[in-house]
Amino acid sequence: MPPRIDAESRRVSLDPRDPAFYGDPYAAYREISATTPTFFWEEYGFWCFCRHADVSTLLRDRRLGRQILHVASRESLGWPAPKEHLEPFEAIERYSLLELEPPEHTRLRGLVGGAFVSRQVERLAPRIEALVNALVDGFEAAGKAELISAFATPIPVAAIAELIGAPIEMAPRLLDWSHRMVAMYQFGVTREVEDSAASAAKEFGDSLRELISRRRRDPADDLISRLIEAETEGGRLTESELVSTLVLLLNAGHEATVHAIGNGLKALLEAKDARPVASPDEAMVEELLRFDSPLHLFTRYALQDVEVCGVPLRKGERIGLLLGAANRDPRVFPEPDRLDPRRLRNPHLAFGAGIHFCVGAPLARLEMGIAFDVLLRRLPKIRLTETPRYRDSFHFHGLETLRAAW
Ligand code: HEM
Repeated sequence: MPPRIDAESRRVSLDPRDPAFYGDPYAAYREISATTPTFFWEEYGFWCFCRHADVSTLLRDRRLGRQILHVASRESLGWPAPKEHLEPFEAIERYSLLELEPPEHTRLRGLVGGAFVSRQVERLAPRIEALVNALVDGFEAAGKAELISAFATPIPVAAIAELIGAPIEMAPRLLDWSHRMVAMYQFGVTREVEDSAASAAKEFGDSLRELISRRRRDPADDLISRLIEAETEGGRLTESELVSTLVLLLNAGHEATVHAIGNGLKALLEAKDARPVASPDEAMVEELLRFDSPLHLFTRYALQDVEVCGVPLRKGERIGLLLGAANRDPRVFPEPDRLDPRRLRNPHLAFGAGIHFCVGAPLARLEMGIAFDVLLRRLPKIRLTETPRYRDSFHFHGLETLRAAW
């Protein structure tokens, strides 16, 4: 179903679970952006913004926050009491970097940020390259593979586990916990999803506490040990903050990157059908991130009564920022629906902007560059064998399967 747009009231009805929409959200964005780039999305119940200029400004606007409970109580916002069965999940979220605002955010980001700067992350390149080559060794002789499960999924979890210092044997459990927890960010969460996320959060937290106590006794050259040092040195980090931070890094560190690799490969292979594609350089990685970003919607709360981009908001009201739409805004990206690695300017918002700008961007870029380069170099005849289908998940815009042969 195409979106139902009432241009006068700027209300739009669009089911995020409609396969036609999540299969190609750009068609709907084009239609909406042409008439109502700022609109009230009825199904979500909040105002959304599509223009690049607006999304970029609002991501940086300090009158908005990812969190509201640091400046208002649940009662004053008219929110119901927290759900008891979600307590283990909330306990992790409570201290997650992504859910905090200054000053807590500044302190925590300062503690983890250093581990993710390009200089540190580059050290992982040989390990990532070896892993990617080993994956190709595993399926090369078969002449075909389903690349989401055999290629895109194992790379980011191994890279982030290595950087943090979580044993690689934990990878299958990390994937399972993470899938169950991020399901909470989808549209239309059911009680079953909530129970599953709560038990995943509990198992994940318990397992990390065990790992932390092992590292306390026997420190290693990894992020967990460095954060434990910060915890003990003058109590700059509590154990709950430490656990939340590790969960966030492990979850954020792989979910989006799996889909960035999958969507990027799809775009590269579709372009390859039309003309030869050289080994992807840095500009191509940026263009792939713009062209088919894995994360499309982030929200912010108004921290005070405020007017943003012509929309009056009450304190506590939520808005939606459509990164996927902003990255196809023709005012900023000429011919936005064309994959063009030679764009002169590519200020895409796939990693966000402002204080919550993705801490893992250098790592994600490194993984994508190595994954595309090794795969296309080793399998020069690779081609798609079926039209890839997207998953029923609008926020985490990624593929169900990506089948290819060579
Ligand atoms: C291509 C893959 C990735 C994409 C598209 C992506 C995208 C984003 C975006 C859009 C945000 C900002 C959210 C907001 O403003 O509300 C963000 C934040 C974050 N990302 Fe990523 N991310 C990716 C990979 C990673 C990786 C590999 C890590 C590994 C550590 C990571 C860790 C984080 C963290 C910790 C935050 C929160 C930062 C803060 O609140 O200060 N991300 N990411």
